[in-house]
Amino acid sequence: MSSIERDVVIVGAGASGLTAATELKKAGLTVAVLEARDRVGGRLWTDDVDGATLEIGGQWVSPDQDALIDTLADLGLETYERYREGRNIYISPSGERRTFEGEIFPVPPKTEHEIVSLIDKLDALVAEIDPDRPWEHPLAEELDEISFRRWLETQTDDEEARLNIGMFIAGAMLTKPAHAFSALQALLMAASAGSFSNLVDADFILDKRVKGGLQQVPLLLADRLGDDVHLNAPVRTLRWDEAGVTAIADGVEVKARFAILALPPVLISRISYEPPLPRRQQQLHQHLSMGFVIKVHAVYETPFWREDGYSGTAFSPYELVHEAYDNCYDGDPRGTLVGFVSDEAADAVFRLSAEERKARILESLSHYYGEKALSPVVYYESDWGSEEWTRGAYAASFDMGGLARYGADLRTPVGPIHFSCSDMAGKGYQHVDGAIRVGRETAAAIIGAA
Ligand code: FDA
Repeated sequence: MSSIERDVVIVGAGASGLTAATELKKAGLTVAVLEARDRVGGRLWTDDVDGATLEIGGQWVSPDQDALIDTLADLGLETYERYREGRNIYISPSGERRTFEGEIFPVPPKTEHEIVSLIDKLDALVAEIDPDRPWEHPLAEELDEISFRRWLETQTDDEEARLNIGMFIAGAMLTKPAHAFSALQALLMAASAGSFSNLVDADFILDKRVKGGLQQVPLLLADRLGDDVHLNAPVRTLRWDEAGVTAIADGVEVKARFAILALPPVLISRISYEPPLPRRQQQLHQHLSMGFVIKVHAVYETPFWREDGYSGTAFSPYELVHEAYDNCYDGDPRGTLVGFVSDEAADAVFRLSAEERKARILESLSHYYGEKALSPVVYYESDWGSEEWTRGAYAASFDMGGLARYGADLRTPVGPIHFSCSDMAGKGYQHVDGAIRVGRETAAAIIGAA
């Protein structure tokens, strides 16, 4: 066991921890980053699978994500646009495949009217919410005690409108069923992206990708930090008092004045604290849980949908794969589709054998893109639920009532211990942009106190 002394020990080499470490080092403080895995990046992971470069974790960048965009520029990383030419596909409640252009879904006029009216109502509410302080909204408690599904039921009796609007926050973002989180949590998700309209606009929220993959961000940040990053070093115990901390990881022990826990909040209690964390933290961390989604990649000899005049953008709340996109990798002439299977639908297919699951998922893709979708040359399912150091995807959110009750204390430091993660962000919540933003803010707080 090696023993080292630093100003700050950072637990977790995801985008948030590495950003904090970079900022602290720039300010002249010494750091050690302890990472449990044998790689950096956490939920950012670009890998070669059977000869195809795939983004197993996060990948998209949207135009309002200025913290991420600054970091990309600083690291010299270039972006490219998601392919979006041609018609989009929607599957109706009866299973009919409909195509459309622009943002208006091909639904009956009454449903369309209800969808537009729900988007307007949500945009108006979101405009009143500060994503950094959603609990301060005058109706915060009321909005946090009603599930998003029930709230939608109070707004319209049109089920197709409710399912479509619900899908954009439930299956597509928080990756939990709409009955499992509150209306306030849904509003935070939308406020973190600027508006609800931004979330429904794939051209906004899924705008660009990074050449070389989004994991380049943590990889290049870690390169700059050099020997200050320790891999295969899961922190098991954190001893602390007002004067400082000792982080005890496999193979290395770091004494420091401050610690940053740059972990998904569900993993905070995996570490033993001596003395234990205070009552408030022990309680509040129990009220956050990870969503769950399978990100599926299917690579084909050609992007056949493009040849047929389709953008690749497809969605339906009635399909196992509730959304799918053209995800061709920069420079690869083959065609790649990415699709998502969320929450209870993901539970259901994980009860099947791998072969049956693949068959079900490809069948759902074929409902959008036709028979050719059934025969990919490369097929891969990300399974973040089995990743010990993540335990779900995309990120963590509060249970019913949790955001109003505990949200304000989520990032409050405990003595020398600070907390930093995308799952604790306001703007950029659950996204890499939020991870970077919170990483910078946490570093600034420590620099101010040091
Ligand atoms: P992150 O979880 O990345 O890092 C925490 C680190 O702590 C990990 O490296 C972990 O191994 C380590 N750790 C845990 N316990 C430890 C311990 N005890 N000791 C030491 N280390 C420990 N975002 C986006 O902007 N655009 C997108 O398109 C997507 N899409 C997307 C798809 C999928 C499938 C996923 C899973 C996620 C996304 N996201 C995304 C979300 C995005 O990837 C995520 O918000 C950030 O990468 C989180 O960064 P953090 O550093 O906050 O946590």
